[in-house]
Amino acid sequence: MTEHFSALVVRKSVNRTFNCELENLPLDFLPQHEVTIKVHYSSINYKDLMSCAGNPAVTRRFPHIPGTDAAGVVTSSQSPLFTPGDKVMVTCFPMGMNHFGGFSEYISVPASWVMPLPADMTMEQAMAFGTAGYTAAMCVDAITVAGVDNNKKIMVTGITGGVGCIAAAILCQLGYEICADFTTPQSYDFAVKMGATVLLPREELLVTQQQNLAKPRWHAAIDIVGGACLENLIKMTDEHGVIAAVGNASATQFSGNVLPFILRAISLIGINAELSSGDTKSRLWHLLATDWKPTNLMALYNTIKLAELPNLITNYQTQRPFGRIVVAMEP
Ligand SMILES: NC(=O)c1ccc[n+]([C@@H]2O[C@H](COP(=O)([O-])OP(=O)(O)OC[C@H]3O[C@@H](n4cnc5c(N)ncnc54)[C@H](OP(=O)(O)O)[C@@H]3O)[C@@H](O)[C@H]2O)c1
Repeated sequence: MTEHFSALVVRKSVNRTFNCELENLPLDFLPQHEVTIKVHYSSINYKDLMSCAGNPAVTRRFPHIPGTDAAGVVTSSQSPLFTPGDKVMVTCFPMGMNHFGGFSEYISVPASWVMPLPADMTMEQAMAFGTAGYTAAMCVDAITVAGVDNNKKIMVTGITGGVGCIAAAILCQLGYEICADFTTPQSYDFAVKMGATVLLPREELLVTQQQNLAKPRWHAAIDIVGGACLENLIKMTDEHGVIAAVGNASATQFSGNVLPFILRAISLIGINAELSSGDTKSRLWHLLATDWKPTNLMALYNTIKLAELPNLITNYQTQRPFGRIVVAMEP
């Protein structure tokens, strides 16, 4: 292990603005937990952007190293579960929130956050999925467990983002027909590339509808948008349908009425990746490494180097590539 390591550090200035820069840090900057890992790959998740912007709902202590996800090799372990040289990953834990995260050449974390890299999966592939991809797998699992057959239509909102694109890819692989929302010609083209065959302008999902029920358009939905969009998705879901509520990219609050539930027997299911049990994680990561691994996985992500991260975060709104973004630690 070297004496210094590189990491993206968010610092709060005296005028309460937040600045992200790559820094070369002494090893004792890293708090020591049970397992220390040399990180090979990380990835960008929605909460990481909030952390980089100093959003107090995510991160309250600065200076801070964000990064929800990491895949790498154990360098030291005080836990009998791991030994140096093990290939491991950390996803779906509060890493990168108020605990230093994966935008760093080294991390040190509790052993309970570490899981072996799934067989048949490289570290880069694990980060192409990351917390967003695992969350997408949870949504697909909820839909299949509820008995929605694979000859049915599924609406996936936010298909240009991490959760949406991985969910769409898995569903396509399982034979479902995909509906998606779009906002620009570029996001329309991306949705088509992801296999969507029914496309709706996002504003159609955000209008306030007076009716308690709307014409059924799909049998299930995966929603990362929240707010009025979720309200409309509920009204537009067919009998015995399922809606997996997973995000709040647009809004947290939504109104609703009881008729879709008591007349169409639809179910609204909440998804929280961090609350997933160890057994569920093992089962779904195995599926992501095998039957659910999208044949087009390489088209779902771009890889950037750690050195490119500060610039991408600064210009994220205008320069973000669609899909997942993997961060490689190599110089
Ligand atoms: N429940 C869980 O366990 C869990 C786990 C992971 C993520 N999430 C949540 O899922 C959501 C998406 O995460 P992600 O990883 O897919 O993020 P991401 O990769 O950053 O993508 C964000 C997506 O949100 C869309 N979006 C952004 N602003 C929007 C707005 N105002 N209205 C509607 N859509 C908007 C974007 O679409 P356009 O670019 O086309 O606008 C894009 O598709 C977030 O709310 C995140 O917190 C939840």
